[in-house]
Amino acid sequence: MRPIRIALTKGRLEKRCVELFEAIGFDCGQLLSKGRRLILPMNGHEVVLAKAADVITYVENGACDMGVVGKDTIVEADSGAYEMLDLGFGKCRFALAGPKDVDFFAGYHERVVATKYPRVARRFFEQKGMDVRIIKIEGSVELAPLLGLAHGIVDIVETGATLRENGLEIIEEILPISARVIVNKACMKLRQAELEQLLSLMQLASRVAG
Ligand code: PRP
Repeated sequence: MRPIRIALTKGRLEKRCVELFEAIGFDCGQLLSKGRRLILPMNGHEVVLAKAADVITYVENGACDMGVVGKDTIVEADSGAYEMLDLGFGKCRFALAGPKDVDFFAGYHERVVATKYPRVARRFFEQKGMDVRIIKIEGSVELAPLLGLAHGIVDIVETGATLRENGLEIIEEILPISARVIVNKACMKLRQAELEQLLSLMQLASRVAG
C-alpha cells in the first residue's frame, strides 16, 4: 500500500504545519530543504504542497488521504471532505468591510461587493435578504473600494492592518477561521487506524503548541 499522503497548503499555513509535525517528533528535514520539490517524504508518509483550493480537490478525489487547509477555503469550496480537526492556528475571520465612516447599508441603491470568496459573500447577503452584485477579485481585494469598483468587500481579516492602512474598517464579522484537517471519506474507511493515529498525534501536538 502507498504511504499516507498529506496535502499541505503552501504559504502561511505551511510553516505552522512543519512546526506541528516537528512537535510530534517527525523528521521534517526534507520539507525544510525542499527547494522546488512538491512531494516530500516525512516519517514514512508523503507530504504534498499545493494551493489551498487544490488541497481540497486532491483530498476529495482521493489523490491525497489527508489535508491541512483554512476553513475559509473549505467554506468557499462547499467541500464534502470530512473535517476532522481544528488545529487552532491560522486564526482570522471573514468580514464585510468598507470605507471608514460610510454607512454601507444606508439608502436603496445597488450595492457592489468585491471578494475572493463569492460563495461566502452571496450566502451572507442572502441571509440578510439583500440583493448585492458580487464581483470576483483574485487578490488585494481592499483595492476595489479604493478604486471605486465596489462599495464594500468580503475578505479575510487577520490583524486588521491592511484595512486600517487603507482607510477601511470592519462593518460586520461573518465567520471565524482557522486551519482544519480534512480527510478523504473512502480512505477514512479503508485506512482508519493509520489516519486516526496520525490525527490524534496532530491533535495532541496542536494542543501543546496552542
Ligand atoms: C489576506 C487578506 C487581506 C490580508 C488581511 O491577503 O485578503 O488582504 O491578508 O490580513 P491583515 O488583517 O493581517 O492585514 P493575502 O496576504 O493572503 O494576499 P492577497 O490578498 O494578495 O491574496
